[in-house]
Amino acid sequence: MSNMKISSFEEYHQVYKHSIEQPEEFWAGIADNFQWRKKWDNVLSWNFKEPNIKWFEGAKLNITENCLDRHLETLGDTPAIIWEPNDPTENHRVLTYKQLHDKVCQFANVLKNNGVQKGDRICIYMPMLPELAIAVLACARIGAIHSVVFGGFSAQSIADRIKDAECKVVITADGGFRGTKDLPLKSVIDDALVQCPSVKRVIVLTRSRTPVSMIKGRDVWWEDEIKKVETQGNPECPAEEMDAEDMLFILYTSGSTGKPKGVVHTCGGYMVYAGYTFANTFQYNPGDVYFCTADIGWITGHSYIVYGPLSQGATTLIFEGIPTYPDAGRFWDIVEKYKVNILYTAPTAIRSLMSFGLDPLKDKDLSSIKVLGSVGEPINEEAWHWFDDHIGYNKAPIVDTWWQTENGGHMITPIAGITPTKPGYATLPLPGIQPVLVDENGKEIEGNGVSGNLCIKFPWPGILRTTYGDHERCRLTYFATYENMYFTGDGCLRDDDGYYRITGRVDDVLNVSGHRIGTAEVENAINMHSSVVESAVVGYPHDIKGQGVYAFVVSPNQHGGDAELNKKDIIMTVQRIIGPIAKPDKIQFVSGLPKTRSGKIMRRILRKIAEGDTANLGDTSTLLDPSVVDEIKAGAL
Ligand code: WT7
Repeated sequence: MSNMKISSFEEYHQVYKHSIEQPEEFWAGIADNFQWRKKWDNVLSWNFKEPNIKWFEGAKLNITENCLDRHLETLGDTPAIIWEPNDPTENHRVLTYKQLHDKVCQFANVLKNNGVQKGDRICIYMPMLPELAIAVLACARIGAIHSVVFGGFSAQSIADRIKDAECKVVITADGGFRGTKDLPLKSVIDDALVQCPSVKRVIVLTRSRTPVSMIKGRDVWWEDEIKKVETQGNPECPAEEMDAEDMLFILYTSGSTGKPKGVVHTCGGYMVYAGYTFANTFQYNPGDVYFCTADIGWITGHSYIVYGPLSQGATTLIFEGIPTYPDAGRFWDIVEKYKVNILYTAPTAIRSLMSFGLDPLKDKDLSSIKVLGSVGEPINEEAWHWFDDHIGYNKAPIVDTWWQTENGGHMITPIAGITPTKPGYATLPLPGIQPVLVDENGKEIEGNGVSGNLCIKFPWPGILRTTYGDHERCRLTYFATYENMYFTGDGCLRDDDGYYRITGRVDDVLNVSGHRIGTAEVENAINMHSSVVESAVVGYPHDIKGQGVYAFVVSPNQHGGDAELNKKDIIMTVQRIIGPIAKPDKIQFVSGLPKTRSGKIMRRILRKIAEGDTANLGDTSTLLDPSVVDEIKAGAL
C-alpha cells in the first residue's frame, strides 16, 4: 500500500514526468498496490469525443475487499472508524476493521434478504453515523449502486434523484441530530416516496426514536432485519466480483442548467484514484488518526471519509455534528480527544470559526496535528493564515485540494510536507493530471503568469464515465466546450512558478459554503412561487459562506402587500423545492430584469449590483429598457 507514496519534491517531479510520458505504465504500477481478483487486459482506452473512457478493462475486483478484507490479517484490531456523536456527552464509538467488516457483511445480507441484486440502485439518506458508511459499503459489497443524498435536501430533491435513478430501495433513519436541530429524515422520505413507485423497500435505522410512520409491506427496521440475518446464522457475505468498469455509485451534482446530474463513478478506476490520492496528498502514516469534517453525502465524504482512507487501512473519524455545537470549540475538542493527526475541512468552516475569535481555542491542545487540508472553494489568504497560525502552529503543511465531484479525487493539490505551499494556491497537479488553461476559443495558453479556463487534457482513473441515464448531457457539459478536453467550469491562473490558483466558477454555478448550487435551479424554485413572474439569481461575496445567493425577483401582486412576508414565502418555497442549503440570502423585488433585445438576462450587470460594484456597469446600451438598471441599483440590498 505504501509503495505509492511520494517522499520528496524531487521524486514528485520524476514521478510526474513519468506519469505524463508513460501514463499507462504509471497507473498500472499504482493499481498494482490494490487487490484484484483478476488483473486488467488493458490499462486505458479513451476518447473525449463521445466520451468513452475505460480504465483497467477486463479486471475483476470488489472495492470492499480492498477496504476491509485485505486489512483483516494485519489491521483487524485497528480502529477503522471512530464515531463522535453530535452530543458530546453521548458515548463515542469505535469500529475496528474486523468489526466493520462483519457489520458490512451483515448489512449486505440484509440487503440481499430484501431483494437487492447487483446493479440495483439504492438511495441512502442518513445522518453521519457509522451505519451510513456501513450502508454504502454493503451496497458495494453486493454490487448494488448507491446514490447518497445529503441530509439537507428536501423531499422534492430526493424524489427527483430517486426517480432519475429508478431506485428500488431507500436506506434512512428515523431522524438525525445536527447541532440543536432534529432532522425528520424518515418523514421527509415519506413525502418523497409519494412520487416514487420504483421504491419497494425502505430500511429505517433507529437513531433519534422520533415517532415515524412504518408502512406495512414497504418499511422495515434496520435492527429487525439484522436480527433475521443473525438467526440465519451466516455472518459472512462473499463480495460480488465486479468488472473494473461496472458502476460503483451515482452522486448528483448541480450544473448551470436544469436539474442535477447523476455523476457516475466505476469500481476499478475510482478505487485506485481515491486510494492513491488519499495516501499521497495527506501522506497518511499507519496509526494516524484522520478527521475529514465533510458529510458523506458529498463526494468529499465518499472519497475521503469512506473509500480512500479505508482502502489504505486508515483510521477515519466520522463526526455527526457541526463545528459550532455545543460551542465553537467543538472541532478542537475532537482533535484533542482523539489526538487527530490530519484534519481536512472547508474554508467556510474556518471562516465561521475565525469569527468567534481565539477564545474557543484556549487550553485546547492541538499538538497532535501534522497535516491540515482545505477543500470546496478557494481559500482566502486570511483564513489560510489563521488555519496555519492557530490550528497548525505554523508547523503543519496545509493542502489546498482542488477537485470536483466529477473527478473522484484530488487533482491539483500540494502533497503534504513535500510541495512548498503558497496561501490561496492549490499549487501543482498530482501525477497523472494534465491541466491546461485555454482562452474562449479553446486555444491553449502556454507559459507562466497567465490565466484562463481550466481544462484537463488526458484522462485519469477517477474521471466520471457518464451522467446517469443521459450520456449526451455528460458530453455536452464536460467534453463539448473545448475539443478533446475535459472542461472543469473553473477559471484559473498559473503564476510565474507554474503554480495554479483557482479563481472560481466561470459558469452560472454558485459555490455556497463549499456546496455547488446552480443559479437556474434556484430560479426554477423561486419561479414556482405563485406570486413570482420571473427571477434571476447571482452570487455575491459573503464573509462566511464564500458566496451568498442574491435573488432579483419580479413579483407585482404580493399577497397581503407585505414585502417581508412575501420574501419569507419565497424562501420557504426554495426550501421545499431544493432544501435549506439553497435558500436565498437576499431577495430584491424589482419591476423588471435587465434584458437584451433578444430577451437574455444580462447577469453581468446583476452580478455587479449584487457585489455592490455599481460604479462601472459597462455597456448597458444594448438593453431593452436601460431604465430598470437605475431602479435596481437604487434598491440594491
Ligand atoms: C467545485 C467543485 C471536491 C469536493 C468539494 C466540492 C470548487 C473545490 C476547491 C479548491 C478552489 C475549489 C471549484 C470546483 N473547489 N475545491 N481547493 N480551491 N475551488 O465539490 O461540489 O463538485 O464542486 O468546487 O469551483 O469546480 P463539488
